[in-house]
Amino acid sequence: MSQQQTPSTLIRGGTLVTADGEQRGDLLIVGEAIAAVGPALEAPAGAQVIDAGGAYVMPGGIDPHTHMELPFMGTVASEDFFTGTSAAAAGGTTMCIDFVIPSPGQRILEAYETWRGWAEKAACDYSFHVAITWWDQSVREDMGTLARERGVNSFKHFMAYKNAIMCDDETLVNSFLRCQELGALPTLHAENGELVYVLQQKIYDAGFRGPEGHPLSRPPEVEGEAANRAIRIAEVLGVPVYIVHTSCEDALGAITRARLEGQQVFGEVLAQHLVIDDSVYRNPDWDAAAHFVMSPPFRSKEHQEALWRGLQAGMLQTTATDHCCFCTPQKRAGREDFRKIPNGTGGVEDRMAVLWHHGVRSGKLTPSQFVAATSTNAARIFNVHPKKGALVPGADADVVVWDPSLSRTISAKTHHQNIDFNIYEGMEVVGNPVHTFSRGAHVYDRGQLRTVRGAGRYVDRPCDAPFWSAQRLRNGQPRPGPVPRG
Ligand code: URP
Ligand code: ZN
Ligand code: ZN
Repeated sequence: MSQQQTPSTLIRGGTLVTADGEQRGDLLIVGEAIAAVGPALEAPAGAQVIDAGGAYVMPGGIDPHTHMELPFMGTVASEDFFTGTSAAAAGGTTMCIDFVIPSPGQRILEAYETWRGWAEKAACDYSFHVAITWWDQSVREDMGTLARERGVNSFKHFMAYKNAIMCDDETLVNSFLRCQELGALPTLHAENGELVYVLQQKIYDAGFRGPEGHPLSRPPEVEGEAANRAIRIAEVLGVPVYIVHTSCEDALGAITRARLEGQQVFGEVLAQHLVIDDSVYRNPDWDAAAHFVMSPPFRSKEHQEALWRGLQAGMLQTTATDHCCFCTPQKRAGREDFRKIPNGTGGVEDRMAVLWHHGVRSGKLTPSQFVAATSTNAARIFNVHPKKGALVPGADADVVVWDPSLSRTISAKTHHQNIDFNIYEGMEVVGNPVHTFSRGAHVYDRGQLRTVRGAGRYVDRPCDAPFWSAQRLRNGQPRPGPVPRG
């Protein structure tokens, strides 16, 4: 290849899958973008040619909920932006939306700049939701700067984690109204933090000290109450909302009711909540049980079945991981008291294969529904579509070639994640990536990870996403829209 030639790759003879359907064809990548999609494309001189016969060709996954190197509960998540986005690429995910979480009282703009610095080592593209953990005039102003000048169109609210990052109703209301002015989307961790606090004390006083105390202190009702409260506050104010990591029928019910009433409510589900149940907390091996301490906790099988139905019916639109890794020695900080076990589990590498195996192979989801739930819906809701989440000329060449018959047994011995265990250990998944392209770079090639530290780029996400901002009517009544800018 001459010095001047732009690198190109022709992916030939695969089944191209998008959220809208499937077709046989070729896909040409030139430089960082998709150049053409269609039948019998010509390979440019010097192009790499990949035979995708028998494989699916899909938009790279978007994980809309990760926490790389998050300082949390007295420690720091073990996965950094380079290792985490590399592991993501090995699993077919080419973009992560992570979270800036300011300490209460900290300027949110300052926290944002800190996270931007940490993320410079990312191997694949990324963006940030910004958490609102407190309220004053500076938060209001900084939300404006972030939305108008820094490409942030979603703000996160933790309704749990009292005495740390929890957001009370006053802050929720202030922030929702500000989001409305800016055309940004409020997102929520829905658990009633006051109830969790009281229940944790009761459970501890009753003698439960180990990981089994964790789910007892965070029952589904606690999540359902918070989801319903956030949704009703949003209804009164006329703002859309997005509920993260929906784990139970109670929260799903709140989302479903609101959607059936025409309210703009979006729901995310984690791959692990779909396939792992609460029996993990009854393991007599302390470490093994503590590995699964995350919030909301794993639920019973009935809740899992409800979540699958919610995903199939489109009541839940996105799938994520909440990738927040703490190694076994970190988890042991809570050896004497379950309340001190750092909350979080990993899975950014395994989300797509787990969803393919348990969703598509089992017949619950079509390949197109899989693409919608792993990529396109997140791109639409967070307003990066069709640059991301689509196979169209001009889109970023974030592409995965997927072999539906390739089998893998998930294990910490072979994964790329920077954590000493894997919550899916021993699970066989049929359907795995063979090639991943991140903005045209061939970052995963048949088992070889070739990510480059710092190659990922920050993705701006403008406000007023057409996917949801256009719909402002409910029951014939105009919703109060964003105030005019000027
Ligand atoms: O347990 C969890 N989910 N840890 C990460 C922080 C959060 O709540 O998303
Ligand atoms: Zn959360
Ligand atoms: Zn999270």
